[in-house]
Amino acid sequence: MKSLIIFISALLSTVCGVYIHTAKFKSIIGGTPAEQGKFPYLADIGIIENGVTTWCGGGVLASVQWVLTSSSCLSQIWVGDKKVVIFLGSTNRASNEFGTLRFEISPNSTNIIFNTGSADANDELVLIQLPNRINWTKYIQPVSLPGTRDCYGLLFKEKALAIGWSNDTSSVLNYLELTTMKSTKCVEEYDPERRDIIAPKNICAKLEMKSDQTCFAGVGAPLVTQEYKVLMGLTSTLSLNNCEKPGTPVIFLRITEYLDWIKTIADV
Ligand SMILES: *[C@@H]1O[C@H](CO)[C@@H](O)[C@H](O)[C@H]1NC(C)=O
Ligand SMILES: *[C@@H]1O[C@H](CO)[C@@H](O)[C@H](O)[C@H]1NC(C)=O
Ligand SMILES: *[C@@H]1O[C@H](CO)[C@@H](O)[C@H](O)[C@H]1NC(C)=O
Repeated sequence: MKSLIIFISALLSTVCGVYIHTAKFKSIIGGTPAEQGKFPYLADIGIIENGVTTWCGGGVLASVQWVLTSSSCLSQIWVGDKKVVIFLGSTNRASNEFGTLRFEISPNSTNIIFNTGSADANDELVLIQLPNRINWTKYIQPVSLPGTRDCYGLLFKEKALAIGWSNDTSSVLNYLELTTMKSTKCVEEYDPERRDIIAPKNICAKLEMKSDQTCFAGVGAPLVTQEYKVLMGLTSTLSLNNCEKPGTPVIFLRITEYLDWIKTIADV
């Protein structure tokens, strides 16, 4: 029985190992956490209004011209006179690192696309079109998207990393180790009184270090598999409810549920 389970999980890893993108450059491994080039698909996203930048969180470079993030970051985007600012290849907001790109986007109906078609949904996904196609470098590359629909529904107990920025002006890119878990277990540990809170569009993970908190990352922070760095989720706003309770499951929006939409819009 045990060998059968091992065999099945090996098979699933192979299926999940079919990626859409293959990185052209190897990431820089080792050194300090979130060294430049370690997570080259990370995007840092802010909103500029009246000359003031408010950091809203992270996102990922999904294709040559599209960034994927959480809608909560952009839910008020049509109100007032706002611009979206996106940094690629950066790990530190306070310094001007070599090789980073900065884009300022005036939002309109073709460059900001909400997956629900409505900007009201505060816990869904958004794709942002960059004004130019990106040339891949050591520091800027697209994330690997999963190849099949239901891979991560089966692969609970997958080792993963959550990577992100806080909303702090001086923030540096950080990452944490997590392990994905079954939704049934997640509900029990998150809030057994509200069983409907974890939807099929969610994927849960548990922090390896109980003392760690994921609110560090704000919304839109990606969850990737530890080994191959395949995108599994982006932090849901549900995660932010439990900041004060370290050790509770962290909730993400499950990428496989949005894959068709991402592929269609972002031309992956
Ligand atoms: C939206 O902005 C982009 C530039 O980011 C521009 O190319 C496009 O034409 C604009 N679309 C509309 C409908 O204004
Ligand atoms: C990518 O490279 C081309 C050719 O060198 C250049 O014209 C273009 O501006 C570059 N794109 C970006 C976003 O830097
Ligand atoms: C960052 O977000 C937290 C939680 O929403 C908020 O309490 C805090 O004021 C924010 N900090 C900044 C600098 O915006």
